[in-house]
Amino acid sequence: MFVVRNFGNKNSKKTFPCKFYLIIYMNRIKIKNALTFKPGKEVTICGWVRSFRANRFVAMNDGSCLANIQVVIDYENLPETVLNEISVGAAISVKGIIEESQGRGQSIEIAANEIKVIGTANPEEVEKTILQPKKHNLETLREQAHLRFRTNLFGAIFRIRHHLAYAVHKYFNDNGYFYLHTPIITGSDAEGAGEMFKVTTLKPEGNLDPENDFFGKETHLTVSGQLEAELGALALGQVYTFGPTFRAENSNTTRHLAEFWMIEPEIAFGDLNDNISLAEDCLKYLVNYALKNCMEDLTFLKEREEKEDLQRPKNLRSELNLLERLNFVSDNDFIKISYTEAIKILINSKENKKKKFKYLVEWGIDLQSEHEKFLVEKHFKKPVVIFDYPKGVKAFYMRENDDDKTVAAMDVLFPGIGEIVGGSQREERYDVLLKKSKEFNIPQEHIWWYLETRKFGTVPHAGFGLGFERLIMFITGMQNIRDVIPFPRTPKNAEF
Ligand code: 4AD
Ligand code: MG
Repeated sequence: MFVVRNFGNKNSKKTFPCKFYLIIYMNRIKIKNALTFKPGKEVTICGWVRSFRANRFVAMNDGSCLANIQVVIDYENLPETVLNEISVGAAISVKGIIEESQGRGQSIEIAANEIKVIGTANPEEVEKTILQPKKHNLETLREQAHLRFRTNLFGAIFRIRHHLAYAVHKYFNDNGYFYLHTPIITGSDAEGAGEMFKVTTLKPEGNLDPENDFFGKETHLTVSGQLEAELGALALGQVYTFGPTFRAENSNTTRHLAEFWMIEPEIAFGDLNDNISLAEDCLKYLVNYALKNCMEDLTFLKEREEKEDLQRPKNLRSELNLLERLNFVSDNDFIKISYTEAIKILINSKENKKKKFKYLVEWGIDLQSEHEKFLVEKHFKKPVVIFDYPKGVKAFYMRENDDDKTVAAMDVLFPGIGEIVGGSQREERYDVLLKKSKEFNIPQEHIWWYLETRKFGTVPHAGFGLGFERLIMFITGMQNIRDVIPFPRTPKNAEF
């Protein structure tokens, strides 16, 4: 049983059998706020020990912000049992007075009056983990994804990720879009690329006929909420989805996940130009939101990148620092060129003439990342929107242009990332869509409902998909997509 004095009513002496921690938590102040307080104020904070030196100075972090708060303890008056339990990784609560700091590196600190160890951390075991305060490489951090939230780097990344998820909802809400929850289990392959994970309750040793399966048919995890979002847009006007998306593509790259989050707006009575404008406006808003709301974490990431850059050869270093890159995107218009123009630029490039591209450049190819990289990072040095792609390289639902060769598709390419957005105007003409779906071998029973919307008040409409992790990569400057999602799913990897 714990005895707690002076909580709530100043004169009361209360006993709490088990609600003790609850009381502490409810009265606690976040370190983010405590750091703004003036000397003299009494606070209680809860967090984890980042470092402990000279039996006196504890650096504490509670995840509310990047900065630690320094707690100064009067170790002569602390029971040795408590003192021994204060170690890196342990969770503690501290009650004390904010004071002006004598030391360098912080303006205030807490002079502790009361310290409780809430959860211990055995130093010998901590030694073997990334909690050990020294530099760990990103690979090791990934292997301990359950602990990496406790590092400055991943604290910063996941706070930024949160703020951007919120900003996505704010942007669309403020612009009159309705958030539509599209299904995760589906019977159709929206992209027609056949990269789906199967959902089944059938036992391998039993009857494998899909009719015996849970849904009475074959089902998969969704690769995109688009087709369902279109149905919503064709009644609600403007909708967006923002949810998990699954792709069984076996590409072990730094830009692909098997489970990622996608934002998919869909606008009725809109065409390809509206779509491009929306994508540009939305991306600029999100980048700006980060600049306005995440400066402490962004500055940390910028400085980290600058340090890392010093280890690299000069030609591989970033030309602009992280903050300059973000400001650059927010301040400059995106380049907009047709696929045909892009191919011309590529064909006439020095790279092509010197045979530096691995893949052949000719009209009709799907642009490879080396081509996208050249256009964005070498040729234009700006975000680039490419539109009107050959119909052979894009999905069945994209609207056919009058030239009979191209579709009203658009991709947004970002420096260092490549494709961040893919979208299109949708084929709204029933007969054309029917013909296309047959050409792409899409079983009619999978998409009869999609086709039917083109029979009842069909309208031009458009939308796109923005890969949330690719956005977070751009905003944090992280170069591997596995480091911007808490628990990455990639081929041969579904730990945690
Ligand atoms: O270009 P994609 O495949 O487009 C669609 O799925 C459309 N149905 C979207 C729409 O029009 N509503 O994917 C859209 C974006 C890509 O530009 C990329 O940013 C991201 O999703 N993306 C991935 N991100 C991480 N891992 C993967 N495996 C990804 N595949 C696509
Ligand atoms: Mg795409």
